[in-house]
Amino acid sequence: MSKPRLLSGMQPTGVLHLGNLEGALRNWVQLQEQYDSYFCIVDWHALTTLAERPEEIPHNVREVAIDYIAAGLDPEKCAIFVQSHVKEHAELHLLFSMITPLGWLERVPTYKEKRENLQIESVSYGLLGYPVLQAADILIYKAAVVPVGEDQLPHLELTREIARRFNYLYGEVFPEPEALLTPAARVPGIDGRKMSKSYNNAIYLSDDAQTVTQKVKQAYTDPLKIRKNDPGHPEGCVVFALHQIYSKDDATTIESECRAGQRGCVDCKMQLAGNLNSALDPLRHRRQELLAKAGQLERILKGGAEKARAVAGETMKEVRKVMHLE
Ligand code: TYM
Repeated sequence: MSKPRLLSGMQPTGVLHLGNLEGALRNWVQLQEQYDSYFCIVDWHALTTLAERPEEIPHNVREVAIDYIAAGLDPEKCAIFVQSHVKEHAELHLLFSMITPLGWLERVPTYKEKRENLQIESVSYGLLGYPVLQAADILIYKAAVVPVGEDQLPHLELTREIARRFNYLYGEVFPEPEALLTPAARVPGIDGRKMSKSYNNAIYLSDDAQTVTQKVKQAYTDPLKIRKNDPGHPEGCVVFALHQIYSKDDATTIESECRAGQRGCVDCKMQLAGNLNSALDPLRHRRQELLAKAGQLERILKGGAEKARAVAGETMKEVRKVMHLE
């Protein structure tokens, strides 16, 4: 019996951070064993923010691909590819755009947020259509599961709605994919907001040990805990949230010591920085190995695109047929 299919992706708007790693990528590494897996680097999506600086994208694509592999994705077991190398995604996006009501898109929280944050008078057509392209990325592989962080759930819901509408209009072509979340589906940044490339609050997988320690020292902690012996409130503390990931076995002790006023924030941060650096060391090591092998990354991305194109091409034949486009 063939394995069920999985697709997920990340935007090459910069290099990857701990949120990307713990919210999605670690899960991908496990899941590649059980699923027929496709991992995309969505460069067209990145143009919704980098349209005026597209020259930055190729470098970011390489960095994201390196992070994927350094974290443990194995090109022998899964397809790693660049979205724009599989043009079929664009064709399906166009066709989906014909059946997606504007009202559905205007309600998407990420769109509303970006529109407010960017504070520009007119947003691009591409930004509004962002989740339609994401639906095409997923459905073109007829993916059963999509492992992502919590912020992507509205996009997954819209993907299911588009699949249902397409199937209603033209017949059963697409399955309705399910999101798969990790226990760390929303990793906080060092300022306490969601860790994000755009908030300047991220710890990057490519940061060296010293930078990581420096960032942990600046992290937001309980503002009511001023002296070492003051009792703390771990629930609102970024350092504790990261301890739950990187010091799992000690998290209960850390929590009770903090609450009892038996643990100072400085020591607590140093312990975290040590554990975080130990967790990132193997990734740093594999990163260096990959950088030293010229041409290997290009070969991996070429092979990944070929594998993806074969599946995407089959789906498009079916789609064109039911839409009378042959
Ligand atoms: P992107 O590039 O913003 O993020 C990539 C993945 O990382 C997760 N993530 C987080 N998880 C936990 N805590 C955080 N602080 C955090 N920050 C980011 C995201 O949830 C995501 O899983 N729209 C997608 C890209 C995309 C896609 C797709 C994803 C395009 N097509 C098809 C899945 C399937 C995005 O912006 O991801």
